[in-house]
Amino acid sequence: MCGIVGYVGKGNAAPFLVEGLKKLEYRGYDSAGIALINDGKFVCKKRKGTVAEISDAADLCSGIGIGHTRWATHGAPSERNAHPHIYGRFAIVHNGILENYALLKEQLESDGETFISETDSEVVAHLLEKFYCGNLLSALREVTEKLVGSYALAVLCLDQPDIIVCARKASPLLVGVKEGACLIASDIPAIAGEGVTAYLLGDGEFALLNAAEAKFYSPQLQPIRKNQLEYDPLISSSDKGGYVHFMKKEMSEIPCSVRNSICDFATKLKFSDFYQVLCQTKYIHIVACGTAYHSGLAVKYAIERLARVPVEVTIASEFRYSNPVICSGTLAIAISQSGETADTLAAAKLFRAKSVPLVAVTNVSYSSLTRIADFVLPTRAGSEIGVAATKSYNAQLTVLYSLAIALENAKGKSGKSLERLKRLPRLATATLEAAETVRSWTSHFVGARCVLFIGRGADYCAAVEGSLKLKEITYLPSEGYPAGELKHGTLALVDERTPVVVLLTNKRLAAKTMNAVHEAAARGAKVFLITSIAEYLENEEVFASVLIPQCSEAFTPLLSVIPLQALAYYTAIACGNDPDKPRNLAKSVTVE
Ligand code: AGP
Ligand code: GLU
Repeated sequence: MCGIVGYVGKGNAAPFLVEGLKKLEYRGYDSAGIALINDGKFVCKKRKGTVAEISDAADLCSGIGIGHTRWATHGAPSERNAHPHIYGRFAIVHNGILENYALLKEQLESDGETFISETDSEVVAHLLEKFYCGNLLSALREVTEKLVGSYALAVLCLDQPDIIVCARKASPLLVGVKEGACLIASDIPAIAGEGVTAYLLGDGEFALLNAAEAKFYSPQLQPIRKNQLEYDPLISSSDKGGYVHFMKKEMSEIPCSVRNSICDFATKLKFSDFYQVLCQTKYIHIVACGTAYHSGLAVKYAIERLARVPVEVTIASEFRYSNPVICSGTLAIAISQSGETADTLAAAKLFRAKSVPLVAVTNVSYSSLTRIADFVLPTRAGSEIGVAATKSYNAQLTVLYSLAIALENAKGKSGKSLERLKRLPRLATATLEAAETVRSWTSHFVGARCVLFIGRGADYCAAVEGSLKLKEITYLPSEGYPAGELKHGTLALVDERTPVVVLLTNKRLAAKTMNAVHEAAARGAKVFLITSIAEYLENEEVFASVLIPQCSEAFTPLLSVIPLQALAYYTAIACGNDPDKPRNLAKSVTVE
């Protein structure tokens, strides 16, 4: 969480910093700030709220500066706690969490230092002032040796007004070099552009930037050469493309994300190490968080159905401390849009430590997860900016369905699954059109006491994702529940103020799911049906419905989730919320 940027060059830093922060706002939007050096002094502008609050700072003049858009971890979102933090000759921005800050702060306070903010980050500025003896890089190294936790840091020093120094551990940081300037940012969209060569700072490494060049150093401060980062131009496109919100734009990109993410592993990788591992796989263990976890649930269903390989899916933060039993023949899969989620990375590292082959399914080719995995299966969704994951979920399902088909093949079961998968982009387009109907449902959801999403089998997997999406951007309480389980307790929630969204795509289970519809309708609930089975549309207990296309049973969540994403989106707008920036959240959660 949080985005940091920096500029040193012949041009003006401030417009780059403000524009860069806007592109990183998905990472946090509690407060924003920039600090520049002008005439031997710091010029700083910070405000609570989004980057728009400091837009006028773009008019400030200087060739060097750093900036920050915050997702608060320590101390309330406020101007006082906003970065950059300035102390003495130093201005710093920090992304991450310093787990030992309290101890460090106590020691500094006992030495007579006074702190302005409640953040963990401010200790870095104080420590720099303490250790600096003329060599900025050495001082930064000495400071980072004292830190426990995660950090991406960028530092300005009044004594050396032409350089920025940076350090990174477990929080991402990229360096961009172009004619007459060097740039830093937490993510590619902020630095990508014509003539910009990008480099990824590794864990424990340092960088020193001036207007002419960027130099990289090992943890021991030995100069190192870095390979330039090949970045996908899709990753750098972060405009709304005529849509009001990124979320809607990104939903419109679902068919394309699905098309680009289909992979015929069985043909392409027949003689590869990866295919050999698949042939030997007896169990699959998936770890992930949030929406990515829900992808795992949906994919368990597909893999077990198609390949008959048992799959376990565990929330990454639970896996880590659960002393898991891992059977031999296990293939581990970590799913993460960002590839930076701390809980998922920690779970993935645990698999690595136990010598379990690790597959990363991620949307960011240069992410931390990519670098620790044995095999990377990229999702090709393009950059996703809206905090609520949409197209990345559909892309994750596509890649993992492709894997399910490869496993089906590796286990000697061949079928028509790949042909069926290839129909999904077209069906997703039709589903997007059908999903527009839910726009007229929102008045029944705004102000609801609770919203239930129910289904059986694969429909249940989509239901839990629909529920997460709704609560995330509308702040309405909701639950995704197995339809058959409702009567074992949750039915007590149901009354006329409890809309019940029912997913029904499986003919075999339809009559059973309809039992839950009867039970909910009998208690006064309005039932909203999302189905691919036309005969249920006119059911008298159904208040409103959407007909979505039919597809192979194993793949249904990829389509049925689309009306649920649309429902969350339109309801958020009806509630007066910004769907791209839900309160209290950030796109990528790089802390535990
Ligand atoms: C989804 O809408 C959420 N923003 C969140 O649950 C997200 O999926 C989760 O934090 C995992 O992120 P990742 O895929 O980048 O690891
Ligand atoms: N821990 C720091 C803070 O709370 C940085 C948070 C962030 O990464 O945005 O200010």
